[in-house]
Amino acid sequence: MSALSQKHLTGIKPLTASDIDLIFQTADNFKEILQRPIKKVPSLRDITIANLFFEDSTRTRISFELAEKRLSADTINFSSSGSSVKKGETLLDTVRNILAMKVDMIVMRHSSSGAPEFLAQHINANIVNAGDGTHEHPTQGLLDGYSVREKFGTLKGLNYLIIGDIKHSRVAGSDIPLMQKMGAKVKVCGPPTLIPKHLEELGVTYEPNLKKALEWCDVANVLRIQLERMDIKFVPSLREYSLFYGVNRELLDSISKDFTIMHPGPINRGVELNSDVADSKQSLILQQVENGVAIRMAVLYLLAGRNS
Ligand code: CP
Repeated sequence: MSALSQKHLTGIKPLTASDIDLIFQTADNFKEILQRPIKKVPSLRDITIANLFFEDSTRTRISFELAEKRLSADTINFSSSGSSVKKGETLLDTVRNILAMKVDMIVMRHSSSGAPEFLAQHINANIVNAGDGTHEHPTQGLLDGYSVREKFGTLKGLNYLIIGDIKHSRVAGSDIPLMQKMGAKVKVCGPPTLIPKHLEELGVTYEPNLKKALEWCDVANVLRIQLERMDIKFVPSLREYSLFYGVNRELLDSISKDFTIMHPGPINRGVELNSDVADSKQSLILQQVENGVAIRMAVLYLLAGRNS
């Protein structure tokens, strides 16, 4: 197979395992190019991409911008602060006006779950979801899967644990279907108030005890508590959360099994993850960030149809 089954990347759920394999193989080629002294290729020289960030970002925004520059695309960057969104313009009007200036692709982060699907139904350009509300963050899911594949050779048969605020996490929303499509088993661990209802329907198991959950896994992805998405408190205090669900060196040393630690960032050091783990050899965190550029290059290149 040489083309994606989808015109847009709104989430992992619409992708097939073959789509994910194709993205991984294309990222392998771009990762090799990114090791060279000249890291730029002309693949998207005639393409213009708009990066629309209606919500804060460090990693995803810079990673997309770098991926676009490495592919020689023309880029424009938009933040809702300082834009006419403040004057009451709708999302659709904003995007239609940007597309009228001959933009080919939209990369968008938005606080509303479903905003990329909504756009995809109403406009003709390719849409790439850079994180929508509590729904999905597909390029994070892809770079997580790619980083695990790089470390273990395959995702098939691996035990993948996600710890923390699963309920509000778009990373979990993408990691769960990605790991399952590629043959890994997924378990979640965290306070019951931060675990979504109907978890069994997703084929995911729940372990409330962090030590037992860690003893099960090959890879543990530690998530941040998404305080910005909570209008009520789901844990009594961050200190108590850290006491029961924080990952620290003492806990890891009490477990004989070896496993890999991941985190999508930004980290709240000392809450969900201590520095003595985040910065240790067990951690894949900076490799995840590095791999994000190659994965985003692969997604943009494939959606532009440059391989078909
Ligand atoms: N992982 C992630 O989405 O980080 P940013 O919010 O900094 O983009």
